[in-house]
Amino acid sequence: MSVTVRAPAKVNLHLGVGRRRSDGFHDLSTVFQAVSLYDEITVEDADELDVVVEGDGADEVPTDTSNLAIRAAIALARQVGREPAVRITIRKGIPVAGGMAGGSADAAATLVACTALWESGIDTDALHAIATTLGSDVPFCLLGGTAIGTGRGDQLTRALARGTYQWVFAIADGGLSTPAVYAELDRIREETPVPESATPHELMTALRSGEARRLGPLLHNDLQRPALRLRPALRRTLEAGRDAHAIGAIVCGSGPTCAFLAQDEPEAVALVAALAGSGTCRSVRRAHGPVAGARVVA
Ligand code: C5P
Repeated sequence: MSVTVRAPAKVNLHLGVGRRRSDGFHDLSTVFQAVSLYDEITVEDADELDVVVEGDGADEVPTDTSNLAIRAAIALARQVGREPAVRITIRKGIPVAGGMAGGSADAAATLVACTALWESGIDTDALHAIATTLGSDVPFCLLGGTAIGTGRGDQLTRALARGTYQWVFAIADGGLSTPAVYAELDRIREETPVPESATPHELMTALRSGEARRLGPLLHNDLQRPALRLRPALRRTLEAGRDAHAIGAIVCGSGPTCAFLAQDEPEAVALVAALAGSGTCRSVRRAHGPVAGARVVA
């Protein structure tokens, strides 16, 4: 028996980072959108827990217990009182360490896949609770769509959003460490007061209108400044996208992937060509959002 699940990447349309809490995490006010770049995970019965990673950047994904898919299988098995005896095959379509929640997508997909394989009948709330213990973005990778995230980013409310948005992603050479980017933000803020982290009302209104042109200029990411300090070359990537008529240009989460919003599909195709020829990134991918969260495909 085997089950295959695919889980989407995310882009933060807004990422407001508040104060650093005593547990080391930061309070967030964020708006997530799931986009059509996917990791595909297959789980099958095996003698013992094992993971195989294939695809772009597979070499950089750990295969020990720091792998989020492994952790997800262990956490779910514990919850339902069985051994996590599965082989997990991960096919990467989401950039590794790219700020698009690739590892979290693998964890969400593994939770959904093992729930189906083990016929554990665990309910959505219990799955969400396990997801939260695995990482801040894992609950959103289960949910998908467009959602507001508070707390560590794990407390979710579905957002009212109309239409489909056309995205282009510029993938950088090498990843960025999320804790390092948050730490750089803390350093930047040592001398500056931390602004209030509020839900961006204008952006929510733009999302309800379904008009990309309204959304583009409102994209915001507090982690962009620290990401650019750690990787100054990303400025050129963002400029290349703006020069090629992107209506929004932003670093994805903690980076280094850059996200560009296009007016429509033909504009997105033109943007892909311009970015690919700009020499400012390793590769370019086109996607649309919002899409569903982790779902069984076979
Ligand atoms: O939850 P996750 O494992 O994705 O977080 C990775 C790291 O990102 C954390 O260890 C922390 O340094 C940082 N982080 C944070 N505040 C959040 C989410 C993540 O400081 N809300």
